Amino acid sequence: MLRRLHPEQPESFAFSAANQQWAEAQITKYPEGRQASAVIPLLWRAQEQEGWLSRPAIESVADMLGMAYIRVLEVASFYFMFQLQPVGSVAHIQVCGTTSCMICGAEDLIAVCKDKIAARPHELSADGKLSWEEVECLGSCTNAPMAQIGKDYYEDLTTESFGKILDDLVAGKVPTPGPQNGRYAAEPLKGLTSLTEYDSGRTQFNASVELANDLGDTVKRIDGTEVPILTPWLGKDGKAAATKAAPKPPKAPTPGKSAVKQAEEAKAKEDQPETLTTPRDGKADDLKMLKGVGPKLEETLNELGFYHYDQIAAWTSEQVAWVDARLKFKGRIERDGWIEQAGKLAAGEETEFAKRAKEDGTYED
Ligand code: FES
Repeated sequence: MLRRLHPEQPESFAFSAANQQWAEAQITKYPEGRQASAVIPLLWRAQEQEGWLSRPAIESVADMLGMAYIRVLEVASFYFMFQLQPVGSVAHIQVCGTTSCMICGAEDLIAVCKDKIAARPHELSADGKLSWEEVECLGSCTNAPMAQIGKDYYEDLTTESFGKILDDLVAGKVPTPGPQNGRYAAEPLKGLTSLTEYDSGRTQFNASVELANDLGDTVKRIDGTEVPILTPWLGKDGKAAATKAAPKPPKAPTPGKSAVKQAEEAKAKEDQPETLTTPRDGKADDLKMLKGVGPKLEETLNELGFYHYDQIAAWTSEQVAWVDARLKFKGRIERDGWIEQAGKLAAGEETEFAKRAKEDGTYED
């Protein structure tokens, strides 16, 4: 399919103030001279804000990154995740039409799109709320047929469940992503055949769906009001982080290395939690009683100066970001709820995981 700039373009594009801060923070991820590496996140953010990528949006991103317009257009026109024409004001539906999905009914889903949205791909529905297209394999073949809507996958679809999702979207509802046939993730259709003992402790939805629900931004335009805007390498609060990172004026593509470095160092110092050189009374708590902490992570935590549950329980979100940046596996603290677990253990309470770990002596690393 030919991917061209749309013939009708808006006059201008500007990130919202918060998205501008977020974008500037993204750029600080990359070493000096490599700011172009932020092109995809910035384009994606622009699309999340506007729904599609206009020429002014592409040029604005190019200006921020000091790139030639054609280079950014090349990226935008290469990946079909980027929409180069207006899309539905509520959602753009991407139905996978590749082998597994085709065998399992993708053509029927496309018929639903034609019926409920528009006869042809990339056409807006009569009310302007939806648009659709067929795309290549989205890597969710075990849950075929499926469609991507916004940043989420809707899987194990039937014409009925898919039709209902479209109706719900038009009605302003936010359908829960993930498998639509009662399946949890990509386990066998007839249920788990192994690792069944882990079945009981799982969250309501699988990790991706749980996160999508928690974030609550499924099919929603990113208008910059979302909190927190995650810039963990500078601190969790994107606003504060960007302010402290001495943001460059608009269209100045490269923040000075020393300014960024200085801001990062100052931020790191400010966010560092209180640490100990040795455990109090020479006796450390068994940090492996925290789900997600095994012998290796415990060693790392000790090296950083954390020996006790109450130390961990007291971490603020900035301090969590500080510690997280120094762990090999990012995101574990929040994912496994270390703060909550540590709070209970520090108070002398038991947690499900600690109980099990004590019984069978298994930890996680
Ligand atoms: S074939 Fe549809 S997700 Fe792979």
